[in-house]
Amino acid sequence: MGASCSAGIRKAIMGGGSHKVCVCGGAGGIGQPLCLLMAMDPNVRELSIVDLNVAMVPPDGVAKDLGHIESKVKVTGYVMEVGTAPKDSLEDCLSGCSLVLVPAGMPRKPGMTRDDLFKVNCDIAKGMVEACAKFCPQAVVALIVNPVNSIVPAMAELYSKAGLDPWKIVGVTSLDSVRANKFVADLTGCHPSNIEVPVIGGHAGVTILPVFSQDPTSACLAPSKIEELDKRTQDAGTEVVHAKNGKGSATLSMAYAGARLGRAVLAGMSGRPTVECAYVKSDVTDLPYFASQVLFGKGGVSRVLPIGQLNDYEKRRLNEATVQLKTEINTGLRYAKDAK
Ligand code: NAI
Repeated sequence: MGASCSAGIRKAIMGGGSHKVCVCGGAGGIGQPLCLLMAMDPNVRELSIVDLNVAMVPPDGVAKDLGHIESKVKVTGYVMEVGTAPKDSLEDCLSGCSLVLVPAGMPRKPGMTRDDLFKVNCDIAKGMVEACAKFCPQAVVALIVNPVNSIVPAMAELYSKAGLDPWKIVGVTSLDSVRANKFVADLTGCHPSNIEVPVIGGHAGVTILPVFSQDPTSACLAPSKIEELDKRTQDAGTEVVHAKNGKGSATLSMAYAGARLGRAVLAGMSGRPTVECAYVKSDVTDLPYFASQVLFGKGGVSRVLPIGQLNDYEKRRLNEATVQLKTEINTGLRYAKDAK
């Protein structure tokens, strides 16, 4: 019995699918646990881990470490010299990729807004996106690097300018749904897997809009509790930044959420269309970019689903989110317009 039980557990972490995935920034706080989770995804065949020569841990070391788990996934590390353009050095790393997850960037420090991070992180994302355009233009490029609200429009417009599909650029907002689900579960005693709160809008402050009315368990909560949960979901990132006392932001929960998005993308590509919230080019509201439920299919994003019914509180919140999101989208659009 002991033998079969252990074999069952091991089977669950085998990997052995048909897709190649790259994690850029894979030696970082989010990157390392994200690499572990992707090496366990049943749809993954090969994992490339790229990071800078100045990373805390060499990417080869992360790859060697992961190469010892009982997974069929082939793991390779790639080092990039600071100052090298990824499009000049990452051909092997990116060629054949179906999915590129990008947590590369600077994390938010206490007192820092996501906007403070914009220029430095947008330049990092641009380098990577240019390399994806060159070596794996069919891949979904999932941007975790903040501020997502501005960086995604900037990168999607650069893809459009290059004649590529802007839907290949996807902003990872899954952590907001993960948190909303968990907070409702903690409050109600339900298992988190039975709760699915769509979180729409964007991925910073008031732009994060959990639609509790669309989840049957959450919909039963008193309006005052909903308002508290709404605020807590918006501020959850700051809770972690403070608890880590200046030594990083959400990494483990973010890796979990990034892997959830990755799993949805790869399941869709493998013939099992899957819905997950994500921030993409959109026409479901008046804004050109918006987070909502997205259907992932064979080629990545296949449809952006409508936002559905909102109650009066959520409609008010949507107006508030729209004002801030518009400014943050414009920051990204300006970057793309000025980019060389
Ligand atoms: P970290 O500093 O631990 O890791 C970042 C890694 O990126 C480092 O290993 C660094 O060497 C690498 N890197 C930097 N520039 C690079 C480049 N040009 N090419 C390749 N690798 C490069 O930071 P952490 O905590 O992993 O956060 C990463 C990013 O994720 C930050 O921008 C943070 O704000 C964002 N984040 C996003 C969340 C979301 O929900 N979308 C949640 C939490 C963080």
